[in-house]
Amino acid sequence: MKESLNQSERFSGRVSVPGDKSISHRALMLAAIARGRSTIRGLATGRDVASTAACLRALGVEIIKSPDGTVQLSGAGEQGLTRPSAVLDAGNSGTTIRLLSGILAGQPFSSTITGDRYLRRRPMDRIIEPLVQMGAKIRSAADSLPPLEISGGSLEGVTYHLPVASAQVKSCVLLAGLFASGSTTVVEKMPSRDHTERMLPLFGAQAARQTLSVTVEGPAGLSAADIDVPGDPSSAAFFAAAAAVVPGGKVRIDNLCLNPTRAAFFEVLAGMGARIEKKNERTQAGEPVADLVVEHGELSACTVGGTILPSLIDEVPVLAVLATQANGLSAVRDAAELRVKETDRIRAVSENLSRMGAQIRELPDGFEIEGPTRLHAATIDSFGDHRIAMAFSVAALVASGETVIENAACADISFPDFYLTMRQLAGLS
Ligand code: S3P
Repeated sequence: MKESLNQSERFSGRVSVPGDKSISHRALMLAAIARGRSTIRGLATGRDVASTAACLRALGVEIIKSPDGTVQLSGAGEQGLTRPSAVLDAGNSGTTIRLLSGILAGQPFSSTITGDRYLRRRPMDRIIEPLVQMGAKIRSAADSLPPLEISGGSLEGVTYHLPVASAQVKSCVLLAGLFASGSTTVVEKMPSRDHTERMLPLFGAQAARQTLSVTVEGPAGLSAADIDVPGDPSSAAFFAAAAAVVPGGKVRIDNLCLNPTRAAFFEVLAGMGARIEKKNERTQAGEPVADLVVEHGELSACTVGGTILPSLIDEVPVLAVLATQANGLSAVRDAAELRVKETDRIRAVSENLSRMGAQIRELPDGFEIEGPTRLHAATIDSFGDHRIAMAFSVAALVASGETVIENAACADISFPDFYLTMRQLAGLS
């Protein structure tokens, strides 16, 4: 599918975005291993979370979705998952394969999990290593790539120092720790998203937190919970960015998760000169939540790197688009992880922005962008990556002419109605 988008004269309105993807994966997985019937409202509607639900069904979990989107899930309890009759398919979802592997490692049966051609190129040594340390046996394709054949069972708790800042790896080890005997501690070099730690107590499990470490005790018995998933800040970032770059732009995005380990993009955007206001601040599902109003402003360059990176890692592609409209030299460093996301996002951003006439210099761990530039329309390759497709929809709104995004349907990985909502806000037919 191709999506054609024109330059826009306006960008305004009030929207909500799908439920947070990271929180949705975790809510489904914790509910699946808890005892009793959990209720999850506002679950993310994209394909990634559907992949998690399909894998859990294949493991014997009953998941019922009502027309209003509310999900009822009958948990299997600590020992109740059943051996799947076929290979589990995580689709495009790194969170599904990495977190679920932690749960699979704790089961007394073997199972195999794989994904689509993009996921089968993403590194899994980062989870294989700690799970093997805990006692799991894992066979993979060459270079530690999926499929992963996991034989688990009697795991022992470990203390694991994360070599990469990754919430997926942290959460994989913590989930395995729920099935292990004794304490499992994960130590981070810098904070990564902490949704797992925040959610465990809602299911009755302890997660003892210190500044850069978290410990769970196993074996742990979880009990069912009611989770109301707030909106996804990573999806909202595209609308916030569009409001910031289109002159006169103003958007209100309701019910957003503004967990500080996720929301650094909005801080950077405010620092660049957009006007941002939080309304109705509250707590929901153990997460800070608010409505966000974002207004256009004269943007100046930003420098992003170091410990802030994990808190805006998925927003870097759209941040690069913003940098093309900001005065001065922007730089993103310490972001080499972007090379092993759904695609090599440093390459994809550099190539597509160059096609649109931006002044960008690719670096091994990020890029530098000199702005402002008047972008021109181009044919954009999403490389099958939802965040690249959506980031370049924002670029299209400020580019002269008609931008064509090829392979655009991948937006439904995280945001099925993205283009419709974008067109409505931008007043495009
Ligand atoms: C996620 C963690 C991040 C992020 C991904 C979702 C999660 O990946 O990029 O989209 O839900 O834990 P890493 O943990 O590999 O950095």
